Amino acid sequence: MLELIIKNGTVDGQSSLVDIACKDGKIVEISPAIKADAVTIIDAEGQLVTPPFVDSHFHMDATLSMGMPRLNQSGTLLEGIKIWGELKPDLTPEGIKERAIKLITWAIAKGNLAIRSHVDTTDPSLMAVDVLLEVREEMKEFIDIQLVAFPQDGVLRCKDGLALMRRALDKGVDVVGGIPHFERTMDEGHKSIEILCEMAVERGLMVDMHCDESDDPHSRHIETLTYHTQRLGLQGRIAGSHLTSMHSMDNYYVSKLLPLMAEAQMNCVCNPLVNMNLQGRHDTYPKRRGLMRVPELMAQGINVSLGHDDVMDPWYPMGTHDMLEVAHMGAHALHMTGVAQQEILFDAVTTHGAKTLNIEGYGLDIGCNADMVVLQAMSKTEAMRVHPTRLYVIRRGKIISQTPKVVANVTLGDDVHNVDFM
Ligand code: FE2
Repeated sequence: MLELIIKNGTVDGQSSLVDIACKDGKIVEISPAIKADAVTIIDAEGQLVTPPFVDSHFHMDATLSMGMPRLNQSGTLLEGIKIWGELKPDLTPEGIKERAIKLITWAIAKGNLAIRSHVDTTDPSLMAVDVLLEVREEMKEFIDIQLVAFPQDGVLRCKDGLALMRRALDKGVDVVGGIPHFERTMDEGHKSIEILCEMAVERGLMVDMHCDESDDPHSRHIETLTYHTQRLGLQGRIAGSHLTSMHSMDNYYVSKLLPLMAEAQMNCVCNPLVNMNLQGRHDTYPKRRGLMRVPELMAQGINVSLGHDDVMDPWYPMGTHDMLEVAHMGAHALHMTGVAQQEILFDAVTTHGAKTLNIEGYGLDIGCNADMVVLQAMSKTEAMRVHPTRLYVIRRGKIISQTPKVVANVTLGDDVHNVDFM
């Protein structure tokens, strides 16, 4: 018997409503009217069924730590890094784990079933690494967690940074991270990229670097990352996260840079909520937005996905881990509110994210993992507009989160209106 049938779903690329049948954790049939028994049957009533949301950039070791030990008064990236440094000696494994699992429940309720989380490797105890490896294992039935070894204080700038990075990777962290713009000099930044990319080759790992997260138009480490990607044959396996300096770069330089990034099949991860919060903080007026040039990158055929980056931590005091909120901010901050652009931004928090993470079996096709979300919305643009209720979140053919449909009753004299904003 089938595990699950979702009936009457709207699916991207299908012209009429379809049923989706799942067995052994996989999608086994997608067709207009499936007549079979199943343990669970859901009637989607014409609403959008999508593959799960993917957060391609997050910090799970810091999440929900806002106010510990103090609030970020300047709102800058650098004060955030300083506060995190003050907090690190007081972190406990129990505290990190409790906050991470709370965040994961939020993520699942919002339909996010894959998160790439950076984890700080510059604490000599590597406590957060151990805790998040444990969380990755304990939660794998419910969510894909991919960990990036992230040398927050600089892999060369921090004492024993390289040795700690190697130890974290030996323990089983999935991806090599970096932060070249935070090294002591531009040259050290370039050197860190070379060393870390070579380390990834030796170990057969992907790379995802915090790169050029500043408003300095001369921060051009993405050029070096692109160069080593080509040199080492790592095409498609590298991600440049943030790339906010690109906003302020010279236009001629960018016209040379983007085709090189396309050649290297660079994945780019933009973090609209947090970039809008942290960038331009040193400006008076006008204040720069400080996001990478997403429409121009996409026009070059470069894969761009979006990340939440932070939820209630030293860098961002808000958030519920709703990836549609991220895409919504992106639509405004990037001037991507056109209908087709909104649809692409929806993809940036679903399929593009899966591409950045290299997730196997992702998608709404026969043979893919039976991981899906039924939204209280009929289309991607409606989802972008209303940030709808995630009616059902399905993992490997089983419902793991359910939220009742939200309808408001508005009483205008004798008339009662049911309002669902559609
Ligand atoms: Fe980040």
